[in-house]
Amino acid sequence: MRHADRVVLVTGGSGGIGAAIVERYVAEGASVGIVDFNGDAGERLAAEWRAKGHRVHFAAADVADYTNCEQAQREIESALGPVDILINNAGISPKHDGKPAPIHRMDPAEWQRVVGVNLTGAFNFSRLLTGGMIARRYGRIVSMSSVAGKAYLGDIVACHYSATKAALIGFTRHLAGELGPHGITVNAMAPGRIATPLVRTVSDAANNAVVDVTPLRRLGEPSEVADLCCYLTSPDAAFVTGQVVDVAGGWLMT
Ligand SMILES: NC(=O)c1ccc[n+]([C@@H]2O[C@H](COP(=O)([O-])OP(=O)(O)OC[C@H]3O[C@@H](n4cnc5c(N)ncnc54)[C@H](O)[C@@H]3O)[C@@H](O)[C@H]2O)c1
Repeated sequence: MRHADRVVLVTGGSGGIGAAIVERYVAEGASVGIVDFNGDAGERLAAEWRAKGHRVHFAAADVADYTNCEQAQREIESALGPVDILINNAGISPKHDGKPAPIHRMDPAEWQRVVGVNLTGAFNFSRLLTGGMIARRYGRIVSMSSVAGKAYLGDIVACHYSATKAALIGFTRHLAGELGPHGITVNAMAPGRIATPLVRTVSDAANNAVVDVTPLRRLGEPSEVADLCCYLTSPDAAFVTGQVVDVAGGWLMT
């Protein structure tokens, strides 16, 4: 119960890796606020946890929209109390017939949307929650980068995805420097291929090709990313900040 009495906000917590992160924090005694675009799944998940006696609250928001985020923050903090731990997990990786758009055919609106969700979303909640963390002299922030932020992933992702995941690394290092003196740690995780709906947006052949060159010879599980996330925000990692940790089965070793 390393997170007993902590309040955690997980963006993109309705499904995939985010839902596994919610499950892990609930198991460790935290109260969890789920923020997601997908209202039905989020409400259902929060209701399931509440039925088992846990403090979980869902707020619908598009993380790319600052006003939406502000509303979600107010809702979650009035239900659960001030947020101690922020997990910037929401992210998208658009494909067309299972393939990422090459730059010369990318719709500028798609570029803007990916920047909005993957990068501005992390800014929005960090902007909203760090004032309270500074005042309380405690905070933990983990953002979801990707090995795509550090290496070329060919036909698996497009340039907007790689660019935003790389930007999150700079964002993480900057915030770690800025917020460290206030008792706040800021880290990023760089997952490889993790078995969620997002990886099924490309062909099995593309995913199998990754497995073939992954030393552990399999896709990762969402729970394995959640384990790392919980560690990075636990007292065991109190002196770890500004780091980008791969959870990729040895793929690329970036
Ligand atoms: N699955 C992988 O292999 C992998 C690898 C590296 C990094 N990641 C990153 O991990 C994170 C989670 O990925 P996943 O595989 O669980 O994806 P997923 O598509 O399974 O889940 C993403 C969740 O984010 C929510 N979401 C999407 N856009 C949103 C928005 N604008 N506002 C609020 N919520 C929104 C979705 O509704 C969904 O619940 C993403 O940032 C992704 O880029 C995933």
